[in-house]
Amino acid sequence: MKKLLITGASGFVGGFLVEEALNRGYEVYAGVRNSSSKKYLKDDRIKFIHLDFGNKDKLKKELVAFAQENQSPFDYIIHGAGITKANRIQDYYDVNFHNTKHFIEAMQETNTIPTKFIQVSSLASFGPGNPHTLEPVNHHHTPRPVSSYGKSKLQAEEYFNTLTDFPYIILRPTTVYGPREKDLYTVFQMVSNGFEFYIGNKPQHLTFVYVKDLVTVTLDSLQSPMVRKSYFVSDGNSYLSSHLNHLIKKHLNKKTFKLTLPTPFVRALAFTLEKSFGLFGKTPTLNIERVKEFESTNWKVYTDDLFQDFNFKPQYDLERGVKETIDWYKQEKWL
Ligand SMILES: NC(=O)c1ccc[n+]([C@@H]2O[C@H](COP(=O)([O-])OP(=O)(O)OC[C@H]3O[C@@H](n4cnc5c(N)ncnc54)[C@H](OP(=O)(O)O)[C@@H]3O)[C@@H](O)[C@H]2O)c1
Repeated sequence: MKKLLITGASGFVGGFLVEEALNRGYEVYAGVRNSSSKKYLKDDRIKFIHLDFGNKDKLKKELVAFAQENQSPFDYIIHGAGITKANRIQDYYDVNFHNTKHFIEAMQETNTIPTKFIQVSSLASFGPGNPHTLEPVNHHHTPRPVSSYGKSKLQAEEYFNTLTDFPYIILRPTTVYGPREKDLYTVFQMVSNGFEFYIGNKPQHLTFVYVKDLVTVTLDSLQSPMVRKSYFVSDGNSYLSSHLNHLIKKHLNKKTFKLTLPTPFVRALAFTLEKSFGLFGKTPTLNIERVKEFESTNWKVYTDDLFQDFNFKPQYDLERGVKETIDWYKQEKWL
């Protein structure tokens, strides 16, 4: 059995990765912290491991100890651990860049490099596409991340690009949605409460990938001969934000009141929310850093190479994914 480490296993994407990796017959090691929730990691085939990405010397010892106890290091690694919202800007860089770099260096210095390493980056590392031409974001474009989250993910990607001997693949998912997801969920909640919100007057072109499709292509990429390549990940379509609201309304059978919020108002709201949540040590979905992403109008992405190289055939378009997500939110009484 091949040993697969999934970091960020306690997170939204991580939980689904663990489930599917078990289905595919891997010996799955869930990388978690003491404080991590194991709510969706109940399968007794899961093995847990604590790796301290913030401390390279400790991490090296942990990797060596694992390799000694198991006669070999991890065969495969999916590095999903990352921070998507934070109260301190430095946290994005510490977790998404420095911790990733420590991890790679620790493997190089202890001779524990796996056969394949998947770096879960984000479309945010490139930032939105040209709002006038509406050309999909593509590899040959100059990355222009608009948030610190995106900038920190880009910094990690730039580090990978300097590695000539490391068997990595970078995946850059666009917005991931599905059961258990808590950020896009706020849009479902608003529609459920009878409101449809838009930011500014320009139509927004959005892209999505359903979590199960992301998991499929991530695990397929692990076994592919591709190496030192990066891919944008979406279901291959682009959707207007009004279409997302329409589908949620349709499957919730709701009528809504449409509100278009001026951009300066949204920024002020993000500021207020961030300060209020900050009092309780939390970060809201609509925060100052991410507001520029929410305002951007072109999130179309190029995916031809993803579809070709991994024979990727998404099983979910937005309608099917929204319906399944709503079914889950209802079943769990989130809606
Ligand atoms: N969701 C999306 O729309 C989306 C889109 C593009 C890319 N991504 C990327 O996909 C990955 C997973 O995202 P997600 O939506 O599943 O996020 P999530 O639910 O917030 O999960 C993040 C995971 O990372 C772990 N983590 C955070 N800081 C850590 C640290 N310092 N040390 C070790 N583990 C740490 C968390 O552990 P705890 O449970 O202990 O906090 C959690 O398991 C991230 O790298 C994210 O950037 C997500």
